[in-house]
Amino acid sequence: MKSFTLAIAALAGTAAAQYYNVTSNPFALFLKSDNATINGTALGACHQGAAIEGLCLTGSRRNETSTYHTFYHNVSASDAPNAIDIPGVLGYTLTAGGGLIVPSAMEFSINPTSNVAVPIFYPGWDRYSTVEFDECGEMYIEAYQDDTVSPPVYFPTPLKVKNWYICLTRWSYTYSTLVWKIGVTGEPQNPSCQKVVVERVWL
Ligand SMILES: *[C@@H]1O[C@H](CO)[C@@H](O)[C@H](O)[C@H]1NC(C)=O
Ligand SMILES: *[C@@H]1O[C@H](CO)[C@@H](O)[C@H](O)[C@H]1NC(C)=O
Ligand SMILES: *[C@@H]1O[C@H](CO)[C@@H](O)[C@H](O)[C@H]1NC(C)=O
Ligand SMILES: *[C@@H]1O[C@H](CO)[C@@H](O)[C@H](O)[C@H]1NC(C)=O
Ligand SMILES: *[C@@H]1O[C@H](CO)[C@@H](O)[C@H](O)[C@H]1NC(C)=O
Repeated sequence: MKSFTLAIAALAGTAAAQYYNVTSNPFALFLKSDNATINGTALGACHQGAAIEGLCLTGSRRNETSTYHTFYHNVSASDAPNAIDIPGVLGYTLTAGGGLIVPSAMEFSINPTSNVAVPIFYPGWDRYSTVEFDECGEMYIEAYQDDTVSPPVYFPTPLKVKNWYICLTRWSYTYSTLVWKIGVTGEPQNPSCQKVVVERVWL
């Protein structure tokens, strides 16, 4: 019973600490790629369902400021906003019909029969995945545990994994979207995928 109470208390503590309510300055997300067609172009929110968006190629370049979509990175109350190497929630504010403002959070949509996860923005903040940004503004996810060896071990220093690709996906519509290749090894099974780096550029 005591351990049960402690476990509940620990969960409650975690929930409070992980309430990502400290927001960053607005930024755009740009791609770096060996492919000149998409190198230096912005990612934008794209319609995937009612008040649901994906992260798509826009073709917009840095001089085309009016076409950027603005994103945010919310970190926990104990962290400094705009800091690097801090996990936080990627946010997008959808303006829906009638001027309704809908703050939305990114969550990876995982299909167990694919090895690429599709970032999707859902209304509200109940569902999310966290991402970090490094000193170059590049978006990554930290890997703590190495299960490519048995038994699994902890990396001496967590890895900054940048498994971002642009692929033709069909979450709802067929679009060129950003994806996350699952795992620290291997290539996307989706043959359309091309490797990219995603960079946060303050607006
Ligand atoms: C992100 O921060 C803003 C400003 O504090 C807040 O309105 C929003 O609800 C936050 N999101 C989360 C995930 O708490
Ligand atoms: C470059 O990106 C464009 C747009 O996604 C794509 O159509 C084209 O095949 C890519 N080129 C190469 C060499 O990957
Ligand atoms: C990508 O863009 C960067 C910055 O503009 C540039 O330095 C680099 O040469 C470009 N690479 C390709 C392959 O277009
Ligand atoms: C932005 O620059 C690109 C070349 O990098 C050019 O093709 C495009 O017309 C420019 N757009 C505007 C709005 O100036
Ligand atoms: C975020 O949540 C913490 C804990 O509930 C609270 O102390 C803090 O004032 C909140 N910050 C904002 C910006 O809402």
